[in-house]
Amino acid sequence: MSQTHPLRVVVLISGSGSNLQALIDGQKQGELPVEIVAVISNRAAVRGLQRAEQAGIPALILDHTQYESREAFDEALQAQIDEYRPELVVLAGFMRILTPGFTRHYEGRMFNIHPSLLPKYQGLHTHQRVLDAGESEHGVTVHFVTPELDGGPPVIQARVPVLEGDTAETLAARVQQQEHSIYPLAVKWFAQGRLQMKSGKALLDNEPLGPQGYLMGTTQP
Ligand code: GRF
Repeated sequence: MSQTHPLRVVVLISGSGSNLQALIDGQKQGELPVEIVAVISNRAAVRGLQRAEQAGIPALILDHTQYESREAFDEALQAQIDEYRPELVVLAGFMRILTPGFTRHYEGRMFNIHPSLLPKYQGLHTHQRVLDAGESEHGVTVHFVTPELDGGPPVIQARVPVLEGDTAETLAARVQQQEHSIYPLAVKWFAQGRLQMKSGKALLDNEPLGPQGYLMGTTQP
């Protein structure tokens, strides 16, 4: 089903918001048929909030430390998000573990981006862990969000080489370059009605994607 109006998107962040910026730029350049209707951060005074304000997008803070439990925060977050009636929720560096109730509420309409070649290196500090393990390649995955942390069906995966002399910072920068092209692409496909999640699988143009999603990047065969 293709959209007749720009897809309503809410973006959740916790920090710098460079992926948010890639989406804002895509929207401004007319490449993304979306409207970012709100940006919500669980941390105050982060760069991503400034980016939203500069783009004229409502930028809200919902501080998780003000809630007595993970459930209470997620309920408040869900209520806040739903005021904006999003068709897609985009986690862009949102550093929170989400409750199953929250993830189920947005199942099939929430993406995350994780800096590893999932299912490898779920969790934190992926760049350093990849270096410590002596891997020759690394990358990033956009996936649908399910209750399993970093475990939902992959949509797009991009690979980058690990180069001699790399540090966690140089590797992160190489990965982020890919992030800024694959995240807008996944959002675009979703907005175009080409991408959906069915029976726990990601489908592109009604065809199931492989276990790593659509493959992109420089070191793939
Ligand atoms: C990215 O590296 C993303 O893969 C991870 O968090 C980081 C967010 O960066 N989930 P930014 O806030 O979009 O700059």
